[in-house]
This record gives sequence, C-alpha cells and structure tokens, in this order.
Amino acid sequence: MKRFLAILAFPLAAAAIAAEDARQLVTMPAPAQAALREEMLDFMGALNEIIARLGEGKPAEAAAVADAKLGFPAMGRHRGSPPEAMPGRHMPAAMHEMGRSLHRLADEFARTARKGDLAAAVAALQPVTANCVACHLSYRIR
Ligand code: HEC
Repeated sequence: MKRFLAILAFPLAAAAIAAEDARQLVTMPAPAQAALREEMLDFMGALNEIIARLGEGKPAEAAAVADAKLGFPAMGRHRGSPPEAMPGRHMPAAMHEMGRSLHRLADEFARTARKGDLAAAVAALQPVTANCVACHLSYRIR
C-alpha cells in the first residue's frame, strides 16, 4: 500500500511543480535563446559520451571529452557572436556564475579522471551533473 501511494504521489508532485513554476524567468533575445539551447544539447551529448567512456573503464578518454566539450576550452564559444546571440550577456550574475562553475567542475573532473581511478572519476562527475540540475531548477528562458 505504501508503495502504491508513493507511485500515486509522484505524478501529483510533478503536476504541482508544473503548476507553480518556481524557476526565475530570464528573458533573452531569440538568437541568444537559440545559442543557449544549442550549447545545452552539446553539453548533454558530452555528458553522455563521458558516461559511455567511464562505463568502458576508460577514465582518461572521459577526461579528454570533458576537456574538449565541457571544460574551460569549451567556454566563450559565443565570443565572436553579436551581443543578441550571446546568452551569457543576458544572464543574471548568479546564473552566469553557475555557467562558469560548470566549466570549472568539468575541469576538476578531467584532472581527477586522468589519474585513472574509475571510482574517483565517477565521484568527480557528480558535482558536474549537480551543477546542471541546480541551474535548471533555478532558471528558465521561456
Ligand atoms: C547556467 C545555467 C545552466 C547550466 C549550468 C546548464 N544548463 Fe542546461 N539549460 C539552462 C537553461 C536556462 C535552459 C532552458 C530552459 C528553458 O527551456 O526555459 C537549459 C536547457 C537545457 C536542455 C534543453 C535544450 C533544448 O533544446 O531546449 C538540455 C538538454 C540541457 N539544458 C542540458 C544541460 C546539461 C547536460 C548541463 C550540464 C552539463 C546543463 N544543461 C547545464 C541552463 C543551464
């Protein structure tokens, strides 16, 4: 019965969240929105690749993916774009800081993973995904 109630409660909780969206709406011009969403899809792909490499027991290869696609080298990709296509420009300071944290945490993950200890690498990936989750729980753009 308890389990049944838990199963029942889950969609109800989800519905409550949808009805009362606590995320802060960040308005940005359409080109910046599009650039942000494109970048996000790349992040998702990078994360998937990282987990795949970890699953194969190849933490150094996971580190290389994080370096190239999530870490500091992946930052500032909108630098050459016009201001209306630069998502960072339209973010509140705290949100922008979360974005920078993502690159820093990815960098830390890569450094740990490169040492070759799989369990340590997985543990170092968790703050990265926690950062994705925290930003998504705090902000929306539409
Ligand atoms: C600085 C804040 C921030 C961080 C950090 C962040 N995101 Fe996002 N993400 C957003 C916002 C804002 C949206 C748009 C939500 C909306 O539609 O209103 C978004 C949307 C997305 C989407 C949907 C894209 C689409 O086509 O609509 C994916 C997928 C995504 N993020 C993945 C990730 C992953 C994976 C990470 C971590 C590696 C991450 N994000 C980190 C802010 C962030």
